[in-house]
Amino acid sequence: MTDTPTVTDPNDVAPAVASLETIVSLSKRRGFVFPSSEIYGGINAVWDYGPLGVELKNNVKRAWWRAMVQEREDIVGLDAGILMHPQVWVTSGHVGSFSRRYRLDELPGAEGLTATDLLDPGVVERLGLTCPNDGGPLSPPRRFNLMFQTYMGPVQDDASIVYFRPETAQGSYVNFKNVQQSSRKKIPFGIAQIGKSFRNEISPGNFVFRMREFEQMEMQYFVRPGDAATAAFDEWLPKRKAWYERYGVTPSRLRFREHAADELAHYAKKAIDVEYRFPFGWKELEGVHNRGDFDLSSHQKASGENLEYFDQAADEHFIPWVVETAAGADRAAFTFLIDAYREEEVRGETRAVLGFHPDLAPYKVAVLPLLKKRPEIVEICHALRADLATDVMAVYDDTAAIGKLYRRQDEIGTPWCITVDVDSLDDRAVTVRDRDAMTQERVPLEGVKRLIVDRLAASRAG
Ligand code: GAP
Repeated sequence: MTDTPTVTDPNDVAPAVASLETIVSLSKRRGFVFPSSEIYGGINAVWDYGPLGVELKNNVKRAWWRAMVQEREDIVGLDAGILMHPQVWVTSGHVGSFSRRYRLDELPGAEGLTATDLLDPGVVERLGLTCPNDGGPLSPPRRFNLMFQTYMGPVQDDASIVYFRPETAQGSYVNFKNVQQSSRKKIPFGIAQIGKSFRNEISPGNFVFRMREFEQMEMQYFVRPGDAATAAFDEWLPKRKAWYERYGVTPSRLRFREHAADELAHYAKKAIDVEYRFPFGWKELEGVHNRGDFDLSSHQKASGENLEYFDQAADEHFIPWVVETAAGADRAAFTFLIDAYREEEVRGETRAVLGFHPDLAPYKVAVLPLLKKRPEIVEICHALRADLATDVMAVYDDTAAIGKLYRRQDEIGTPWCITVDVDSLDDRAVTVRDRDAMTQERVPLEGVKRLIVDRLAASRAG
């Protein structure tokens, strides 16, 4: 549940070329991410996705769903409600444990605090901690619930309090029986979910890295107790790192980091993060957790419902253990954005490129007229864009000269540009330009859609 403190290692690999400022500025300028409610001065730790950002994030979620549900025989999807019975969060331990009034561990002089220290009311006095701003005294730490709450129904009293879920996982646990019985899945099998989660984070920041409203992509894999969970954990961990690499993240900027015993979340027997080398240090990208039978056992006890699984072959009843892969859709999109950014010299000029994997690129193709004064050319462009758009995100642009149009598409990561020129009117052929190699090839107009669709499919396969 906690994000890793920044690691300062002298042998640390270099971060991607993009600084945080470059990414924030590009995101705003080109329409990836905007501050929420900006005309009112913004609201802390909430961000809105613009026209390109929503495409990128949707593509990230689709790529995850493809790898975790579509390509798997043993995983099914679920979309549970954000609001759940309030008892869920008491049983899950979030009402009791998901709380720290101060980020004690981030105060100067508090380095290396253990979980026991964090819960010690005398810790401030014992370590002589003072306010990092003015050196003044600090009050003893107080507990603070990280969950947002609201009221369900017309009466606003304690009995009507409900919480905005802080993780999607609980929806999969409380639906375990429903999903298992309706899909007739045998253990081992998984339940995957993508959806919004909310946390009243004490120290949000670093753009979309840590927000108060964010989206998670979580999968709960139900296995036999004990060794099977260890084996599943060992299988999922490299798989999840490989997923980021498959979509283009530089392997040397990814690593694993195991949680020490005193930083394990209340539900976890073991947790290893996939970390990325962000511009602000190594940080958690995704967590893989062995949650044992904590969640299903707790819900069985609190609800009185039997959540055991019956293994017919072994004639055995048991509470399955869970191996969870817990990723953030925003954090993944942010990572792909940072890692894709590069600057290079082309004929004495700097070109900024987002070298997205084609599957993640907001637009797959841009259709550009070489001469917008010729209505026949513009007409072909619009017809081609409309035809392409039945299969892929395609955009038309004629607001600048061709060189500038190419640079703009490079900067937003469009893998292919199609240019229609005067010759196209005679030879019914167009020019396809590749974002990375900057090569150009002449292709018959009739076959260009097939070419783009095939290249996209090939990039997905390879
Ligand atoms: N169900 C387990 C769980 O929620 P977590 O490590 O707290 O585990 C999983 O969260 C992932 O969700 C993180 O690795 C991160 O990618 C994303 N995440 C968590 N808190 C976030 C926040 N405040 N803003 C953006 N993403 C967040």
